[in-house]
Amino acid sequence: MNLTPETNIESNVSGYSKSFPTTFRKAKNDILVDNNEKEYLDFFSGAGALNYGHNNDYLKKEIVAFLGSDAPIHCLDMDSEMKLNFLNAFQDTVLKPRGLDYKLQFPSPSGTNAVEAAIKLARKVTKRSKILSFTNSFHGMTASSLALSGSQEHRHNDIPAQDVLFFPFDGYFGEDVDTLEYIKQMVASQGSGNTLPAAIILETIQAEGGIKVASVDWLVGLQQFANENGILLIVDDIQVGCGRTGNFFSFERAGIYPDIVLLSKSISGFGLPLSLVLMKPELDIWTPGEHNGTFRANNLALCGATTALDYWKDRNFQNEIEKKAQVVEEKLNQLRTDSEAVKAVRGMGLIWGIEFESGEFAKKVSQQLFEKGLIIETCGNKGQVVKLLPPLTITERNLSNGLDLIQETIHQLHGQPILTY
Ligand SMILES: Cc1ncc(COP(=O)(O)O)c(C=O)c1O
Repeated sequence: MNLTPETNIESNVSGYSKSFPTTFRKAKNDILVDNNEKEYLDFFSGAGALNYGHNNDYLKKEIVAFLGSDAPIHCLDMDSEMKLNFLNAFQDTVLKPRGLDYKLQFPSPSGTNAVEAAIKLARKVTKRSKILSFTNSFHGMTASSLALSGSQEHRHNDIPAQDVLFFPFDGYFGEDVDTLEYIKQMVASQGSGNTLPAAIILETIQAEGGIKVASVDWLVGLQQFANENGILLIVDDIQVGCGRTGNFFSFERAGIYPDIVLLSKSISGFGLPLSLVLMKPELDIWTPGEHNGTFRANNLALCGATTALDYWKDRNFQNEIEKKAQVVEEKLNQLRTDSEAVKAVRGMGLIWGIEFESGEFAKKVSQQLFEKGLIIETCGNKGQVVKLLPPLTITERNLSNGLDLIQETIHQLHGQPILTY
């Protein structure tokens, strides 16, 4: 079914319907099918909300059974068996094995609500108002989250960034400039003109910002600086958490222990909306109901979330991600060597970016791939990066086919002969 111009009452604001102009009818794991039965390989994963693929059978079985049981689906943040199940499972499967001690808050269900809750809490705890955020960051579309986002495209310059200090992310001025040293001097030294912020918020890999990977040394140094100055460190793991980088949390590779961690997108496992704020216990100075919202802790989403944690009980799941990550890395490095169109490739686990000179070229790559049956989006401050974000559960064959298609398309668009590896 297609809408006629008279019946299409949806606002212009709908974006992905323009980037990927077809009507989807079905989806399974790494494949979407449209209403003309055309298949699309999914290298987008609902912008990171579908790490376990579309309609994952293992999760679906539990979700369907839960729906059939007449258990409460919506009960705000009243206690339900499902909520308690999830809290126990998260403690046993995620926190304890990693030696992490956090309390959990369920904010409203989209990622931006977790960001809003976290900065509100940081301000309350420290009694300071400023938040330090980074160049090219993205934290969501509600007013405070937008104010924290470096992306001018999203801010349109009309969202005031009051009480936000923007500082250069790792590598912002190239490899030779130590941005951490700059931050230290500008934030904590007498005479810099700045007063201490309540918190530093960051993505360990800036996703919308163009797949910018913070180094381990930088992350460790940033945490140390924050700790020494009583500044809370907030890791926004909304896009790159839940296994995207190979570990459950993206910061595990650096061995840091953020004060606050934000999860959303893939935490429910099934594409159902759910968000979490993880805070060190001593920060939990909320009073009951002080921060609320109607759709917190939705039980259907929690059913998906509890079941999805089973993936993390078996080391094989992570081994599989590592194996697939290696395939992507090798292929992209080869592409970088072979194609003059490719300026850089960056990434980790199953989040990778291919950077081109211009946003126009990246857009053409994404459009051509869509024609050929592969869904992939662009990111970066000029849209110049094509972002590879397949489900973690993608089959090896489809991963390889998708990478071949990307390589072929870049060569075609750049007028280079197609090499086969
Ligand atoms: C790092 C990060 N933070 C926050 C958000 C906002 O999440 P939501 O769109 O669910 O509000 C996003 C969305 O892409 C994100 O990538």
